[in-house]
Amino acid sequence: MKFFLDTANLHEIREAVELGVLDGVTTNPSLMAKEGIRGLDNVMAHYRQICELVDGDVSAEVIATDYDGIVREGEALAELHPSIVVKVPMIRDGIKAIKYFAEKGIKTNCTLIFTAGQALLAAKAGATYVSPFVGRLDDIGQDGLQLVEQIVQIFSNYGYPTEVLAASVRHVPHLIQCAEIGADVVTCPLSVISGLLNHPLTDKGLATFLADHKRVNA
Ligand code: G3P
Repeated sequence: MKFFLDTANLHEIREAVELGVLDGVTTNPSLMAKEGIRGLDNVMAHYRQICELVDGDVSAEVIATDYDGIVREGEALAELHPSIVVKVPMIRDGIKAIKYFAEKGIKTNCTLIFTAGQALLAAKAGATYVSPFVGRLDDIGQDGLQLVEQIVQIFSNYGYPTEVLAASVRHVPHLIQCAEIGADVVTCPLSVISGLLNHPLTDKGLATFLADHKRVNA
């Protein structure tokens, strides 16, 4: 399973790269705003910086919601760096644009997926990734992981090459269950990846090992 970091924060990206387990990055307009990145030139420069830090796909989201605008923005993003994946919202013109990008060999990530039908449509249009939002479905009392499971099953039934990128992954159990289900990718904050390191018995066991070593080597 690939680990993507869901952030536009360069320090967090550097930290995950240093850990040696990062396969890519996803961003969205909210995450860019959180870092205070504004203005087209700054946005483009920031994406370039992210691409230079990470050896893997970097999702950069279009703002336009009409076909011509999505195509124009997506082509400009794709020209920035070979790692760029154009993130396109799950809307009618988005699906048409994904088809266009697929024919041109431009990678896409269809975002804001909340049903298996939306995922199927994006796969048929040729999306490279679909992003079901696990946490946001949980937030409204639905089962986000069940959606991931459904999409994995459907894509496997028909051999779609589209990868299931579980997004809005909020905590370690989410990530582990995505791995059990067979999601191709999870994208999450650094805290979730760091959370995989932890268990109190690991800390306790290490403290005992070191204390015993010190006792006989003092
Ligand atoms: O990748 C989508 C993600 O940024 C949404 O996460 O936690 O805002 O639902 P969240």
